[in-house]
Amino acid sequence: MAEKPYSYVSKIYNYLMRSVNYQEWADYVYSIYDFMNIRGSSVLELASGNSKLSVLLLKRFPGIIVTDLSYEMLKLSNSSGLKKVCCNMAELPFKNKFSFIYSTFDSINYLDNEESINKFFKNIFHILNDEACFTFDVSLEKNSIKHEKRLNRKGKVDGLKFIQNSKYDRTTKIHQNKFKIKLEDGSIVEEIHRQKIYDFEYYFNIIEQHNLYVVHCFNSFTYDDANSESERAQFVVKKRLH
Ligand SMILES: C[S@@+](CC[C@H](N)C(=O)[O-])C[C@H]1O[C@@H](n2cnc3c(N)ncnc32)[C@H](O)[C@@H]1O
Repeated sequence: MAEKPYSYVSKIYNYLMRSVNYQEWADYVYSIYDFMNIRGSSVLELASGNSKLSVLLLKRFPGIIVTDLSYEMLKLSNSSGLKKVCCNMAELPFKNKFSFIYSTFDSINYLDNEESINKFFKNIFHILNDEACFTFDVSLEKNSIKHEKRLNRKGKVDGLKFIQNSKYDRTTKIHQNKFKIKLEDGSIVEEIHRQKIYDFEYYFNIIEQHNLYVVHCFNSFTYDDANSESERAQFVVKKRLH
């Protein structure tokens, strides 16, 4: 039976991400906060997953709130300093505004249809304060093409066997990752992850449509401008003030 994304993949997530340098990623996110001269301390992470990145930023952002759609993913972190909210980033429950919001590692690509991505940016407009910025990275087509084959893999983690099948469809622009996991009791579960690989220009259009604007768009982990040939792009967005 196909399960909700990250119900079971949470069990192998830290293994899948073992080569990710979260310290470097956290430093980059913080450098954007600094570069943008943000002073406020109300900070929110969207789709935080195992929240490793925010744990590394806790000293700098003590009141940080992390959110994710998957309760199982949020449970991966037992840091007492984090405030956690299990919610859909397209339907955020917050009434207050934030000075800095971020999301990392292709999470925005999980908003795989027009309705959810529109709802998402509409929400972002409402929860950013006037001086705030929102920064997020996206995976672009070149990245999907480059990594499609490599992500066909299998392995064994803590007694669980898994097979990952990765397929990028250039027509629908959906990158699908199918995971089959054999659990401790021998049962096999399946999870399907769908990510939409929107065109580079699409982000600029949709952001503008929601009274926001792109202040910077960098090649991820750098301060160089990204373009449609980039593999990953890091957007820095602010609210348009009338
Ligand atoms: C690739 S993981 C990235 C996690 C984390 N940011 C990291 O860097 O390790 C994508 C995350 O997005 C979450 N996610 C997917 N769709 C979501 C949604 N609509 N709302 C909130 N979280 C979502 C998943 O549960 C998962 O934890």
